[in-house]
Amino acid sequence: MNTIPQAVGPDASAPDTSADTLETSAAQERSAVLEKRILKDPGQFRVLTGDRPTGRLHLGHYFGTLHNRVHLQNLGVEMFVIIADYQALTDRDVADNLTWYVEELVLDYLAIGVDPARSTIFAHSAVPALNQLMLPFLSLVSVAELNRNPTVKDEIAHSRQSSVSGLMFTYPVHQAADILFCKGNLVPVGQDQLPHLEVTRTIARRFNDHYGNGTAVFPQPDALLSSAPLLLGTDGTKMSKSRRNAVTLASDADETARLLKGAKTDSERHITYDPTTRPEVSSLLLLAALCLDSTPQQVADDIGSAGATALKMTVTEAVNEYLAPIRARRIEFAQDRAYLRQTLHEGNERARAVADTTLAEVRAAMNSHY
Ligand code: TRP
Repeated sequence: MNTIPQAVGPDASAPDTSADTLETSAAQERSAVLEKRILKDPGQFRVLTGDRPTGRLHLGHYFGTLHNRVHLQNLGVEMFVIIADYQALTDRDVADNLTWYVEELVLDYLAIGVDPARSTIFAHSAVPALNQLMLPFLSLVSVAELNRNPTVKDEIAHSRQSSVSGLMFTYPVHQAADILFCKGNLVPVGQDQLPHLEVTRTIARRFNDHYGNGTAVFPQPDALLSSAPLLLGTDGTKMSKSRRNAVTLASDADETARLLKGAKTDSERHITYDPTTRPEVSSLLLLAALCLDSTPQQVADDIGSAGATALKMTVTEAVNEYLAPIRARRIEFAQDRAYLRQTLHEGNERARAVADTTLAEVRAAMNSHY
């Protein structure tokens, strides 16, 4: 899976007249063009990407974006990885075990090959100038625009809070600050994050129009869509940090076997790949294929009438073998908490320097340089 995500056709299961699908296929076409430009001139790009510190990263994250981050880094693209600690508070009242989760994220990053000498890993709350961008940015979007953002609507529907906080409501705006503080122009995302990126692009455009005096202070960042279809959790629902339905990078081989053994399948013995009618079986086939660098159809053919038990054994072996080197590195890094903290401190320093420069530019553009 060491490739830049390839453009894929529109999802056959979705009605292709919907605005969503049209938007997605346009983004996919754009991603294909970007892939070529990245290969030709990686130095033109700066990636901003990140995660909330609410749990360990899992296989869905890995095949969705993590492996691609490392690939982009190794191609020579400059990368900033934000640990979005304030964002953890969008859908919960208190961010539990914050320090622990932040360090676990750093560990996950190091284990998969994010190199702190080339990529900047930092925490959102440690960069005041980044956060200050939020105020001018808030002035550039309307309440109505935030109200109809589909990602915000979806997150509100799944929130653990009884009422919607202002932070949740303004989440696309602080995410715009996350991306624009370092003038990120490339954001590897899943489809669910496309509406957010649209808000970022709008804010960048409006800022330039209002204050740019003919020059572009901010780039309008592009989404780089992942080609890997979504993996389901072991219970057949969306794979999620908080649902205990995911194999994490940090799980050991036994825990992985236990989780996958309990994975939901169906009653049909013969194994076939059919994501529409057999979503759970197909997701397991896909996972095995991603680890084996094969296709889900091929894995299904190899198992055939051996049934779900054989399928689970195949997936377990494939996952454990694929993750073995990552897990070994993770264990090594985990023994040196001081190094983890130092990595983060250095990343925070670098991010602060970049954010200070951008904020100074913004204040000058807005004539608030006193
Ligand atoms: N919203 C992302 C998530 O829920 C994390 C994140 C915060 C992010 N800021 C970002 C992702 C900026 C991409 C760009 O995991």
